[in-house]
Amino acid sequence: MNLEPATLPRHVAIIMDGNGRWARQQGKPRIMGHKAGVRSVQEVVRCARELGIGVLTLYAFSTENWRRPGTEVESLMGLLQTYLENQLDQMVENQVRLRTCGRRDHLPVKVRQVLENTIRETAGNDGLILNLALSYGGRDELVRAARQLAARAVKGELRPEEIDEEKVTAELDSAGLPDPDLLIRTGGEARLSNFLLWQLSYSELYFTRVLWPDFGREHFLAALADFQQRQRRFGRTGGQVAGEE
Ligand code: IPE
Ligand code: IPE
Ligand code: MG
Repeated sequence: MNLEPATLPRHVAIIMDGNGRWARQQGKPRIMGHKAGVRSVQEVVRCARELGIGVLTLYAFSTENWRRPGTEVESLMGLLQTYLENQLDQMVENQVRLRTCGRRDHLPVKVRQVLENTIRETAGNDGLILNLALSYGGRDELVRAARQLAARAVKGELRPEEIDEEKVTAELDSAGLPDPDLLIRTGGEARLSNFLLWQLSYSELYFTRVLWPDFGREHFLAALADFQQRQRRFGRTGGQVAGEE
C-alpha cells in the first residue's frame, strides 16, 4: 500500500461497529465480540501512532447505548476499565495522550477514576492524541455548548450576535482539535448514529462491511489509501488552488 505521508489525514474518527454480529457469527455471546474488538483498537492505535497521525477519535459508547441490557453495559464498562489499566504504561512509553468527549460524569465512578488518572499521566505526551468518545452523542454535545453560550450571554459576557462558528466550536468537547478529515465506519451500516454531527461537516466518509473485530492494520491502511484518492473541494470548484479566492 503506497501512502503519501504529506496527505495523510490529521484526524481520523472511527465508528467501531459490528462486535455483536461478529460474536453471533462465531456462536458466542455479544460480549466476546466486544472483547475481540479491543484487539482491533490496539492494532489501529498502534498503526495511527506509527504513521504519525495527529488525532484518532474512537466512538466507544454512545448516549443511546445506555439503552442496551444492563449486563452488556456493565461488561463494556469493565472492558474499558481493563483496557485503560493495561495500556497506561504503553501510552506513556509511546507518547500517546488520552482525552475524551462525551458525558464523563455519566460513567461509573471506577471508570471515571481510571480515565482521569490516564489523562493526567499522559498529559505531557506529544505523540498521537487518542480521543475516546464515551457516553457521547453529537446532539448532547451541541445542547451543552448552547447552554454554555446562553449562560455567558445571560451574564452579559457575550452578545448573541457575537456567537459565530468559532465560538460554538470552542464550546464543544473537541475544542482545540482539528475536525476529522476521515470518518471510518465498520460493520456495514451507512449512518452516523449521532457521532460528531458538527465536526464531520466536511469529512470524507468511508464505510466498510468489515466487522470491527476483523478490522486491522490492512483495513486501516486501505481506508487511508482511499482517502488519499479523494478530491476535497469544500464547496469550491475542482480547479481552484488552495488559498485562492
Ligand atoms: C459496536 O458493536 C460496539 C458498541 C456500540 C459499544 P455493536 O455492539 O453495536 O455490534 P452490532 O452492531 O450489534 O453488530
Ligand atoms: C454506534 O453503533 C455507536 C458506537 C459504535 C459506539 P451502534 O451500534 O450503537 O449504532 P446503531 O444503533 O446501529 O445506529
Ligand atoms: Mg452496532
